[in-house]
Amino acid sequence: MAKTSTSEQSTAQEIEALRAELRHHEELYYVYDNPEISDADYDALLARLQALEAEHPELVTPDSPTQRVGGRPAEKFEQYVHRRPMLSLDNSYNIEDLRAFDERCRKLADGRAFEYVAELKIDGLSIALHYESGVLVRGVTRGDGRIGEDVTQNARTIRSVPLRLKEEHKEMEIEVRGEAYLARKVFERINAEREEADEPRFANPRNAASGTIRQLDPKIVAARRLDLFAYDVLAGERKPFDTHWHALDWLERVGFRVSPRRLCPTIAEVIAFCNKMEAVRDELEYEIDGVVVKVNSTALQDEFGATTKSPRWAIAYKYPARQATTKINDIIVQVGRTGALTPVALLEPVQLAGTVVSRATLHNEDEIKRLGVRIGDWVTIEKSGEIIPKVLNVVESRRTGAEKRFRMPKACPVCGGVVSRPEGEVVARCVAADCTAQLKARLLHFASRRAMRIEGLGDALADQFVQTKLVRDVADLYTLTLEQVAGLERMAEKSASNLLAQIAASRERDLPQLVFGLGIRHVGERTAAILARHFRTLERLGAATVEELDVIPEIGLTVAESVHDWFADEGNRALCERLRVAGVRTELAAGAEEITNEAFAGKQFVLTGRLETMTRDEARAAIEARGGRVTSSVSKKTDYVIAGEEAGSKLDKARELGLNVLDEQAFKALLA
Ligand code: IVH
Repeated sequence: MAKTSTSEQSTAQEIEALRAELRHHEELYYVYDNPEISDADYDALLARLQALEAEHPELVTPDSPTQRVGGRPAEKFEQYVHRRPMLSLDNSYNIEDLRAFDERCRKLADGRAFEYVAELKIDGLSIALHYESGVLVRGVTRGDGRIGEDVTQNARTIRSVPLRLKEEHKEMEIEVRGEAYLARKVFERINAEREEADEPRFANPRNAASGTIRQLDPKIVAARRLDLFAYDVLAGERKPFDTHWHALDWLERVGFRVSPRRLCPTIAEVIAFCNKMEAVRDELEYEIDGVVVKVNSTALQDEFGATTKSPRWAIAYKYPARQATTKINDIIVQVGRTGALTPVALLEPVQLAGTVVSRATLHNEDEIKRLGVRIGDWVTIEKSGEIIPKVLNVVESRRTGAEKRFRMPKACPVCGGVVSRPEGEVVARCVAADCTAQLKARLLHFASRRAMRIEGLGDALADQFVQTKLVRDVADLYTLTLEQVAGLERMAEKSASNLLAQIAASRERDLPQLVFGLGIRHVGERTAAILARHFRTLERLGAATVEELDVIPEIGLTVAESVHDWFADEGNRALCERLRVAGVRTELAAGAEEITNEAFAGKQFVLTGRLETMTRDEARAAIEARGGRVTSSVSKKTDYVIAGEEAGSKLDKARELGLNVLDEQAFKALLA
């Protein structure tokens, strides 16, 4: 061996020390999400290492942190035959399927006790990572399960893939399998960048991840920030641990990320885990499409074996799909209460996340342009949470040429009024003061449960009021006579008088409901309550300046300007006056401001299960009237979970997070 000078020796030592330090910080950052140093400090260390390696190319090793940044673009990917095929999983879509899987496993186990491991099914793509003496030497995509593509350069760019295992296994050759994916935030960033560059958006994080791993230029891959959860380890064709649980522990120890998991002695526990994770699905930083259930014992796994496609010892429990493909039969334009024109796609009905979907919003003209959607197109639609379904992208391969372009109407499709779209705004609006579509939408909003709660004033009736011109604004409701209402089509005297009684009763609703019911832009239920409590009368709210509005905590400038503009309009001021004259309460109910109390102000509540003595809307109103907020999902930020009868997974999650859980009685005590 050639003699090395002391200076070379110390350079080699410095390089090794830098690498060790960088690896430590990478793990803290990418695996534990808990960095100790700033990004700038990390970059400085990396730059120092890069400089030293540039001076001493003979000292560069494949596991150096500098090797992540990506080398030269590849011409194409080489094929690679997997030592042991990368199988797929059988799917199950309901609890019965899971129980049937359990039955089969118990039969195969023939009386022997065993456990399951339940872990998240990450929605990405699987890759195999080969380590020799602890150093990453190869990354291969799943491909068709038998033959994949060698994407080593790209795999190196994934920061949660250790380039060197922290602890060597006694086996020299180790294969780690896992799911590469893009975090939601990263996915959104990539799509925003693509949009700016006029490139088509990716439909979902999975497509984006698989497009990324097959990118020939590793620099692009590095910039895209793929991530990885490891879920299996092999030594040659064998599994080197006695249980899957131990394998996952080892993976974590040597520097991989492993997704949330649970060791389950029974299928009932597996089901509980599935339900629990479904409830928190939207709060995860990555997309999951279900839970994977595996028999824990490696010996039993080997015994149960596999079909040509999938193992008999594992199953995927899939959550209801949130995306579907269907055809756009037509595009119509709806007019909202502020005159906003919203294009809506009428779809060939399709089953999605448990409901039949036949409409999806297209938001506005720019969105239609961005998507390039035409009438007759096949599209992917998505439904997440409680949001109305939206169109994600056009399936261009299914175009026939018969599709028709859609143009936003130049006139209001309902009243024929002028449509205006001011410079810089995305929304086109009908500006006609007497637009019947707007009036109808305003009436329905005013009468809705969370506003003035006029039961019985539904779509058909609102239509008739508007068409007959009996009602020209919401104040007209209070001067309707029995004769007028009973004279409407399909309206018996009894229901007419019921409706009038409802309208009369609505005079007593409190100021927050009235302010919300007016339908001022940007003023939702919560903002309305804040404004009402602050000003206490409609008159004082109407007289407030933008500055007076803007200084209120939780009221921003947009809301302040919108409220001010609304009351600056003469017609709106006249409307308020007529409501007051008609006997509608325009002052905060006595004492209402005092009921804001410590237990509620600024606190977050989640309602779950059925309450005996009040509806959800009433419970929500009671919380908000006291300055609290109601959110739909349980998180660390939740202060109280109100659990009624048959409370489900939200309650489980609350208990797990150690939150305050109140039953109905305790909740009522708190209200009182
Ligand atoms: S185990 C033989 N575990 O789901 C076992 N797969 O539908 C095969 N996936 O190809 C895979 N998360 O891409 C396993 N925790 C997990 C997973 C997981 C996601 C993917 C993987 C696989 C597909 C099967």
